[in-house]
Amino acid sequence: IIEDIIGRKIFDSRGNPTIEVEVYLDDGFGRAAAPAGASKGTYEAVAIPVDDAIAKLENEVVEQLIGEDAEDQEHIDMLLHEVDGTSNFSNIGGNTSVAVSMAVAKAASNALFRVGPGEPLERYLYRYLGGAYPRMPYPLGNVLGGGAHAPGATDIQEFLVSSVGAETIDEAVYGNALVHKRVKKILADEGVFCGKGDEGGWAPQVRDSMAFEVVSRAVKEASDELGFEVRLGVDVAASELWDEEKKAYVYKDAMRTAEEQVEYIAGLIDEYDLFYVEDPLHENDFDGFADLTEKAGDRCIICGDDLFVTNVKRIEEGIEKFAANAALIKPNQIGTVTDTYNAIALAKRYGYKAIMSHRSGETTDNTIAHLAVAFGCEMLKTGVVGGERIAKLNELIRIGEDIGNDRMTEDLF
Ligand code: PGA
Ligand code: ZN
Repeated sequence: IIEDIIGRKIFDSRGNPTIEVEVYLDDGFGRAAAPAGASKGTYEAVAIPVDDAIAKLENEVVEQLIGEDAEDQEHIDMLLHEVDGTSNFSNIGGNTSVAVSMAVAKAASNALFRVGPGEPLERYLYRYLGGAYPRMPYPLGNVLGGGAHAPGATDIQEFLVSSVGAETIDEAVYGNALVHKRVKKILADEGVFCGKGDEGGWAPQVRDSMAFEVVSRAVKEASDELGFEVRLGVDVAASELWDEEKKAYVYKDAMRTAEEQVEYIAGLIDEYDLFYVEDPLHENDFDGFADLTEKAGDRCIICGDDLFVTNVKRIEEGIEKFAANAALIKPNQIGTVTDTYNAIALAKRYGYKAIMSHRSGETTDNTIAHLAVAFGCEMLKTGVVGGERIAKLNELIRIGEDIGNDRMTEDLF
């Protein structure tokens, strides 16, 4: 039973204020914080300024939730929608709602499984959902990038890697980190020195073509050393490149129409053997997504992030139009744990892969690691290095001790 809820202002990995929520039960405790995006989708749940979020929490949300059963997550999340009264949490804030919703889930799991310092949220959630014995997601992370996360660096926002050949979660985390190190070394050997972007990937001021050469070499070298396969992918974050007036994707060294963009990305999939492409077209181009998905066939995961914004209605539209074969899942894009689960369940029902994801602005909150396992996501996209990223990866390693560190998902390919 929920006895009290408090909110406080804390800071994220970019030094921006964000909301952290604590939920106190008669027999349990949960804490969670909202992350924040930089290349946000237009159709996401709306985050409101943190001071307003805390005021809304204290003045409108708390009184509705006190006395409620924290184990009834669906009911709690329905109450959050009711208090908010809009379709996109623009009243109480998607940041407020996601922090409350996740903190309630964590409090309930804490009440049920008080076993040492950990809070096996994933165990609570899959029991609550009646799901099958869970498996581990492959970590997917950014080793190099630019776009909205590092202006002046590459046009493509993220060059991503995943140790898809690893047999354990520990190896998979290490494999991605090894590529990150190799990228730094190869860049330095080429005389390119650089800092990091918001998610910890290297941010060199190079053309995308050079970035592809560097990262694919790093992936190959790391795979050889590791003895298992590491694959390369990208998040184009194409809404950031799209110019609505020019009707073109504007790169530093090129302009591409929608059709040219589809050809360009299809060419990159072939040339660099990409296994994963996120947001190759802008957030309203369901048809362009469908063209690319058809061209890619089953060679490549085509994933919608800004396209779907973890929203059941938009994922439904995507399924009808064959617009992708995977959905990125960001709890704060939709605002509650229940809505997050519903988006994943719909995606998986239609054979889409579901990839749980961090935001570029993160805290050390590790809830998404549990959600990824509990809800059967094939991958967890959460960077490779940096405290707020490694917090989730290390939690995956701990979860691996709970459910078996070699119980990797079998559904990635
Ligand atoms: P974000 O973007 O900056 O909105 O979190 C990350 C992404 O595009 O996947
Ligand atoms: Zn994205």
